[in-house]
Amino acid sequence: MISGKKILVTAGPTYEPIDPVRFIGNRSSGKMGVAIAEAFADEGGDVVLIKGPVRIEADHTKVKTINIETAEEMHSACMKHCTDSDIIIMAAAVADYTPITTHAEKLKKGDGNLILELERTKDILAQMGLQKKEGQILIGFALESEEGSDNAIQKLKKKNLDMIVLNSLQNKGAGFQHDTNQVTIFDKFGNSNKFDLKSKAEVAIDIINAVKNYATHAQQ
Ligand code: CTP
Repeated sequence: MISGKKILVTAGPTYEPIDPVRFIGNRSSGKMGVAIAEAFADEGGDVVLIKGPVRIEADHTKVKTINIETAEEMHSACMKHCTDSDIIIMAAAVADYTPITTHAEKLKKGDGNLILELERTKDILAQMGLQKKEGQILIGFALESEEGSDNAIQKLKKKNLDMIVLNSLQNKGAGFQHDTNQVTIFDKFGNSNKFDLKSKAEVAIDIINAVKNYATHAQQ
């Protein structure tokens, strides 16, 4: 089901520049997205990996990596590649806010406080949900500290997703910067599957199996 399919995966954080030397970022390691890209490539998928500024690389000839830095660059790269993708997995931790102005020169300190004004970035996943093509499978991620399931299901509906992968911040060893993850996968048919804590490579295989089950269900 995966072989020969075009797969778009995003991974890592975005960096939103304040001035030439400073940025607002987050602690995403990119490991989950890279593991997903490699797992789909192992199954014969043609993978485009759009990756924020992390050192980790996908080690596979069938993964073409596009490196980006900002949410705006992630948006442009995703828009360019999403239309002809069969399966899209948005594992990146895209910044929700970016500084309204990026200073051309390094900001000098003053005596008082510094107030940074931030504006919302474009919600790439929501836009993909709006323009989703027939048969395209769109998968989002959610990172929740509390009320995880309800929020994830709401997000799935609101953004017109086929599936959502919830990482709970309450689980030790799961989520940002770990080599392991503990996820629950929800689909739009109301199915959910809670997995044990395992390596990100194993979680990637669980996601692929969930996509295969979903595709079988969707065809019926
Ligand atoms: N996402 C995106 N574009 C953004 C922000 C997030 O495509 N500008 C994607 C992420 O890649 C992820 C999902 O949306 O797949 C996360 O959804 P979001 O609503 O941003 O989750 P949280 O940041 O956890 O939301 P909230 O702040 O509402 O808790």
